[in-house]
Amino acid sequence: MFRKPLMALTGLSLLLAISPVRAGEPDMAALTQEGKEVMMGFGTALKAELVKAMKEGGPTKAIPVCNVEAPKLAKMASDKSGWAVGRSSHKLRNSKNTPDPFTRAAIDDFLAREAAGEKADKMIKTAIVEEGGQKVFRLVKAIPTAKPCLNCHGGAGVKPKVVEALAKLYPDDAARGFSEGQMRGVFTLSKVLK
Ligand code: HEC
Repeated sequence: MFRKPLMALTGLSLLLAISPVRAGEPDMAALTQEGKEVMMGFGTALKAELVKAMKEGGPTKAIPVCNVEAPKLAKMASDKSGWAVGRSSHKLRNSKNTPDPFTRAAIDDFLAREAAGEKADKMIKTAIVEEGGQKVFRLVKAIPTAKPCLNCHGGAGVKPKVVEALAKLYPDDAARGFSEGQMRGVFTLSKVLK
């Protein structure tokens, strides 16, 4: 009769004892999960727009998706979730996407690991940092180059029309010459903790 509740209680206290989250401390696993969901929402919406535009008119038609829609979709994802959402890279196309020091350090770490043979697709860095007197949860995730990305971020295979259109919009474009699987850049997200 008394055994079961007692066992349940023991189980519960055990669970509490081994749980890494203590009262008042942010739950890193939950924050990482939340961040991943916001990131995937943005990433999926962006990819859908890109694929649709490429089907309709090829890469030249799809450039505005990255140019105009990507920042809009990032802002929408931010407004909806309360997270700051963006993209960045070590080889930038748009200088507006220049990494801040935290993102830059994550990118450098990912690049070193990639050079040592690790695949980019699973690389992620999370941390809680102090920014302007506030505690902020940061998440940076590597984005590997997929085949469709090569239309606008590849090397010699990029069509002359696309090269021309990109050169007009981005005279200082450094986001070329990638190969499939290589890290193209990162998603970078942050959330101010209360
Ligand atoms: C139709 C052309 C096109 C395709 C295809 C494309 N991109 Fe881009 N990409 C762009 C443009 C244009 C920008 C600049 C966006 C801006 O002005 O913010 C950009 C910017 C980026 C950035 C932000 C960093 C920077 O350099 O400014 C990342 C990361 C990125 N692309 C990754 C990808 C990935 C990954 C894929 C494949 C899933 C992809 N892109 C496919 C045109 C393209």
